[in-house]
Amino acid sequence: MSTPTETVFDRTGEAAPWWRQAAVYQIYPRSFADSNGDGLGDIPGITSRADYLAELGIDAVWLSPFYPSALADGGYDVADYRNVDPRLGTLDDFDAMVTALHARGIHVVVDIVPNHTSDQHAWFREALAAGRGSAARERYIFREGTGENGDQPPADWVSVFGGPSWERVADGQWYFHHFATEQPDLNWRHPEVRADFVKTLRFWSDRGVDGFRIDVAHMLTKDLTDPLPSQAELDALPQDGNHPIIDRDDVHEVYAEWRAVFNSYDPPRTAVAEAWVHPSRVPLYASPKSLGQAFNFDLLEADFDAEEFRRIVTDNLAISATSGSSTTWVFSNHDVVRHATRYGLPRTERGADGRPLHKHGSQWLLSGGTDPVVDTAGGLRRARAASLFLLALPGSAYMYQGEELGLPEVADIPAAERQDPTFFRTQGAEIGRDGCRVPLPWTESGPSFGFGEAGAHLPQPAWFAEYAVAREAADPHSTLSLYRRALALRHELQTDEALEWLETGRDDVLEFVRPNGWRVITNFGTEPYPLGPDAVALSSSDPVEQALTEVPGETTVWIAAR
Ligand code: NOJ
Repeated sequence: MSTPTETVFDRTGEAAPWWRQAAVYQIYPRSFADSNGDGLGDIPGITSRADYLAELGIDAVWLSPFYPSALADGGYDVADYRNVDPRLGTLDDFDAMVTALHARGIHVVVDIVPNHTSDQHAWFREALAAGRGSAARERYIFREGTGENGDQPPADWVSVFGGPSWERVADGQWYFHHFATEQPDLNWRHPEVRADFVKTLRFWSDRGVDGFRIDVAHMLTKDLTDPLPSQAELDALPQDGNHPIIDRDDVHEVYAEWRAVFNSYDPPRTAVAEAWVHPSRVPLYASPKSLGQAFNFDLLEADFDAEEFRRIVTDNLAISATSGSSTTWVFSNHDVVRHATRYGLPRTERGADGRPLHKHGSQWLLSGGTDPVVDTAGGLRRARAASLFLLALPGSAYMYQGEELGLPEVADIPAAERQDPTFFRTQGAEIGRDGCRVPLPWTESGPSFGFGEAGAHLPQPAWFAEYAVAREAADPHSTLSLYRRALALRHELQTDEALEWLETGRDDVLEFVRPNGWRVITNFGTEPYPLGPDAVALSSSDPVEQALTEVPGETTVWIAAR
């Protein structure tokens, strides 16, 4: 069986592990490709599109959860960590997919969800059946309630998805869940919990998986010594490694054990932390003693703004230098409004501290996508410019399925067809994430635009036809053609993990150069920016045009050293 190349050589002949500057494509399996016409994407569907992924030119895929799940949270409620949801295929199908991807030089990264299980997991069922005081309850976080009859929760904490984060069970005890009620948090002080995840990591590593994306990596360990603080007290406590439930230093004891597992394989398995922590604490997760790499969501939260982009890039390169890991960049994933739409909306509303007041696009989603009217063409132009900027940065580039088509968010999903627990737990005060999880359009017509032979588990709007893979593949000016060309060139031009900013004389134009002379200019403004007699290798406005004398507004160009 052929396997992907494990090292990448830059122009100086230095070898670096593949993941340091990989282009990673996130697949949300239930919405990628449906091979059996049940409306749900599946593992054979991914295998059937292996050539598409190879032609796109990515180095790895990251699969969101495909494990057995009651789908209370889109699969992030895992009922069995070492199996495939029967609706998505079998373990044999999984092996066939890994073989097909490896044969095309594509690495495979899978999502691990260690903070919580599904309430359908055998352990949680056992815990409910065994009752208070049982060993089975020790694997989770069960407590007695407060108040005279214990009928009040142990604390007034609010879950990430809204609503209380303590749930009462039939015998009167309460359990803790950071997320939905159906996602009970595990007790990471329990040796069986620790041992079981090591078994899971080995299980997938033995099947040829190259790496892991660790869901909410900063939440696993907790200190729930009595008396529990109130939510207001929790919010006021510093997140300095000693917070009772967020980003505790002791979580790295878990990851040190995992690191030994990763390093026992040749090549070592990789991991990337989804850790929403203060920038100063990111290097702890990215350290080679811990998970090895961490997501950086700063660009995903930024507006299309030269100053903001420059500050974020500079800061994150400095942060990654302290851990020795490479940094990561991302604009879209399965949790946020797609960036082609975000950039067609007014700028993010921010508080005095500069932090976003809401998730960008969330207010627009509440209006059913009508207010304000999205500037679709402008949003796409800016998204293409931003993506070409990102793909030239040192470090790993994470892409989300559909962004290579310039796919916008779907805002008008009827309430009865929504699936995201945030919608239900907030009684619709938050619309949630279904709009970026609508199954992909592969063809311009057909019952689900080629996603499968029947319908799709989330409704696709008629305008999806415009973004169909078949249509874009035939159009050299399309976003798909731009991504294909950019990813191919990125491979050719890839070089040491560094950049130098060049003076442009304009606040709305950024220019940087990579160590081998690969130059990148992004015009965030609308006035064209004059170019010298440089040969343009690629422009986000028009992947075909190479004889440019200026960088048009809201455009990125790549100039390759001659
Ligand atoms: C982060 C995942 O990205 C999100 O989709 C999920 O809902 C939560 N973690 C809970 O697992």
